[in-house]
Amino acid sequence: MRLGERLQTIADMVPEASILADIGTDHAYLPIYLVEQKRVSRAIAGDIHHGPFLSAKNAVADTQLEQYIAVRQGNGLDVLNPGEADVVVIAGMGGANIIDILSSRPEITAKLKRVILQPMIAASLVRIWLYKNNWKIVAEELVEEEGKMYQIIAAEPGTDCQIEAVLYEIGPLLWKNKHPLLKRHIQELLRHLRGVLSAMADSKEAVNSEKYKAFTKKLNDLEDKMSCL
Ligand SMILES: C[S@@+](CC[C@H](N)C(=O)[O-])C[C@H]1O[C@@H](n2cnc3c(N)ncnc32)[C@H](O)[C@@H]1O
Repeated sequence: MRLGERLQTIADMVPEASILADIGTDHAYLPIYLVEQKRVSRAIAGDIHHGPFLSAKNAVADTQLEQYIAVRQGNGLDVLNPGEADVVVIAGMGGANIIDILSSRPEITAKLKRVILQPMIAASLVRIWLYKNNWKIVAEELVEEEGKMYQIIAAEPGTDCQIEAVLYEIGPLLWKNKHPLLKRHIQELLRHLRGVLSAMADSKEAVNSEKYKAFTKKLNDLEDKMSCL
């Protein structure tokens, strides 16, 4: 099995010999790859929807890995017993959904050694949630696949210092390590924010709102950071 760059980058962030839970697994490519590579000893592949659950089940059966990969249908971490997995991957979902999944089963989250998250949107909310819930960001990656940028965040239990607000947006380690795609990433954030502000500019009420003020501040802060690169 060969993975695309996004899933390969996620796979590379899974520590050797982990017991992995891939939540929202869809086709189960990630657990299949990691078990085939003998990088993880066992995996649980979970998905809430029947279609992806079936496609994961079929893919695991086709590769004859049923003994190593349990495919389960259910919402978020409900497919796990506490302590059953030590690493959880949640990739390809919105940030709010990821936060929902992590917060709805605290007794399971508390036993994890690492979470690897790839939010499609609202990555800043995920970083703020991690900070407030005593997860320390230990690695961050950016991947560009088919013209789209993806942010990947790995966190482990631990306390972190509070950082300036704009770094929750950019990614503190992407910024600190001057990731090769950092400029492109900030350009994308700016492009998105300018789009939001220009849509709001049509309404007087929106322009006078606190949200507009906050977005304008965010834009200025991001432009400031961009000018340092
Ligand atoms: C876009 S796919 C991502 C698949 C894979 N993780 C990846 O990154 O390539 C999102 C998957 O998450 C599943 N999903 C969404 N919300 C979920 C939840 N609360 N619990 C479990 N699975 C969920 C969807 O059914 C879908 O199969």
